[in-house]
Amino acid sequence: MKVLVATDKPFGKTAIDGIRKVFDAAGFELVLLENYTEKKQILDLVSDVVAIIVRSDIIDAEIIAAAKNLKIVVRAGAGYDNIDLKAATAADVCVMNTPGQNSNAVAELVFGLLIYGARNFYDGSFGIELKGKKLGIQAYGNIGRNVARIAKGIGMEIYAYDTLCSDELIAADDVVPLHSIKELYEKAEILSLNVPSTPETRRSVNRDLLNLLPKGAIVVNTARKEIVNEEEMLQFMQERTDIKYLTDIKPDNHEEMCKKFPGRYFSTPKKMGAQTAEANINAGIAAANQIVRYLKTGEERFRVN
Ligand code: 3PG
Repeated sequence: MKVLVATDKPFGKTAIDGIRKVFDAAGFELVLLENYTEKKQILDLVSDVVAIIVRSDIIDAEIIAAAKNLKIVVRAGAGYDNIDLKAATAADVCVMNTPGQNSNAVAELVFGLLIYGARNFYDGSFGIELKGKKLGIQAYGNIGRNVARIAKGIGMEIYAYDTLCSDELIAADDVVPLHSIKELYEKAEILSLNVPSTPETRRSVNRDLLNLLPKGAIVVNTARKEIVNEEEMLQFMQERTDIKYLTDIKPDNHEEMCKKFPGRYFSTPKKMGAQTAEANINAGIAAANQIVRYLKTGEERFRVN
């Protein structure tokens, strides 16, 4: 049985060695497609694979239709907005993610970006400290929780808003649960966006909400570009010259943002929240193990469709 690992942003060597070991032990054959440049390269390889592992790579209806023997797709990571769940379900293909496996890496990057921004991109001028600042975490999942853990060490005042999370669960981490998104934006001197991209959250970070942020606020996005209304973010940054926006997901209007807001806007060149050896190994090997368990025993833990 063949398993395809298709990654535009490849796993590190140790992760691939680990994935290979899992498949060797299970008697599966690993087919590796890295740094591909067009969808056709995936289409050419899928006709006889039973499973696919991807990162942010798009698995759409055309790929699913071409993969006649496909049983399972695992997104090695958290967000599975890159996989056409409807098409997968219709074709009886199981889709899973590997929740939690790269969340510490993403949470650490939140603070990498934050300190860089708070210290004015290391331009030699006076910056601000994070200690004592009010941190608002939008969505308290695996990443949100790790952000809170690190923020506690820094000495921040932490607030979280998540409709899917109970007050008890949030409060157990010494984090203050908030009950409206407006309240979160009003409080957050530092706002960490950690919501997945869903039909409900797409373009939901808009000018009305952003305008509630206190003076001098910093917004950090390590989630998805799709959750931000990019035109309104640009307009907001124009109007509120006190605000900084730091993102790990280059917006479509990146060039314009760079030109208009030097010293207040920064984007990583390529999404790198999960680009650590540890996250790669954790997520990649977890994905491989989930495939083996599903195909050998039918275990469906972490199924999302
Ligand atoms: C995720 O959803 O797990 C993160 O955004 C990481 O994505 P990546 O594997 O494409 O870096």
